[in-house]
Amino acid sequence: MAETVMDTKKVMLSGIQPSGELTLGSYLGAIKHWPARAQEFDCYYFMADLHTITVRQNPAELRRRTLTQLAAYMACGLDPKQNVLFIQSHVPAHAQLAWVLNCYTMYGELSRMTQFKDKSLKNADNINAGLFTYPALMAADILLYQADYVPVGEDQKQHVEICRDIATRFNSIYGDVFKVPEPYIPPVGARVMSLTTPTSKMSKSDHDQNGCVYLLEKPEDILRKFKKAVTDSDMEHCVRYAPKEKPGVANLMQIYSAVTGKSFDEIEREFEGKGYGVFKPAVGEVVADCLRPIREETQRLLEDKAYLETVYREGAERASYIANKTLRKVYKKVGFVQM
Ligand code: TRP
Repeated sequence: MAETVMDTKKVMLSGIQPSGELTLGSYLGAIKHWPARAQEFDCYYFMADLHTITVRQNPAELRRRTLTQLAAYMACGLDPKQNVLFIQSHVPAHAQLAWVLNCYTMYGELSRMTQFKDKSLKNADNINAGLFTYPALMAADILLYQADYVPVGEDQKQHVEICRDIATRFNSIYGDVFKVPEPYIPPVGARVMSLTTPTSKMSKSDHDQNGCVYLLEKPEDILRKFKKAVTDSDMEHCVRYAPKEKPGVANLMQIYSAVTGKSFDEIEREFEGKGYGVFKPAVGEVVADCLRPIREETQRLLEDKAYLETVYREGAERASYIANKTLRKVYKKVGFVQM
């Protein structure tokens, strides 16, 4: 962090939209591995509420989800002392730099963004300008902190690419103002599939609610979903890792392995001769046990409003300090009169 003397750590930054519930898939596949990153990188995580309103939101819901998500990330081990955790709208520099970058981002470039095209189709009644210029705001998020790395999934790669283009364009006019960031492809975590359709990814938008387990779900609901999980229709009825023939069983083994650290061999031995009637609830139990403390800690944090407020206030202060430095430089470069 800024206070560390001789800090040579690279900067990593990630925005998270408070637009849905976190799932077991996002936990085992990604979030679980985030706390360890702080040893290697200076990490910034923010709730991207400015991005979220590009799609119409219920205000009370947005507020609730923003705080719940902040609390949940902390409960998953993201320590606010080791990481900078904040809420995007608390740091005005994001909106301020976004305006400037809008003027260095081309209409043609934005028109080619696949996410804009997808979202316009889905929200045909609300194709607003914010949805269109969303990549300029995301570029501002990244460039304010001179980030070296941006961890991204497939769907956000194009946005990091345009951010690089905007940074390079700006630098070529005004000199080295921005660090040009690299996308960071995280080491693969567990790939968790739907419990009811094990050939597609576990997703909050799954039509069948039984396919998706939520991070903050009650233990009894988790258990029920695992008991109902699809296994296979062959007669073998044994716990064996064969993703092609038995994708449902393989998925449950993946999950069990990710939670307990056991190898597939060990799992096969553990359940030898025991059948799915024993295996499925066993997976449900370890998942419920793993998520229980996260759920309880999230609830505890949400009740401790004063502490949560201290966290996001301090986060916003630390973030603003760095962000404003970059913003001042940009304002000066483009020719604004300094106050
Ligand atoms: N657009 C990202 C998403 O929908 C969220 C995001 C906003 C982001 N700003 C960012 C991610 C900056 C990385 C860096 O997932």
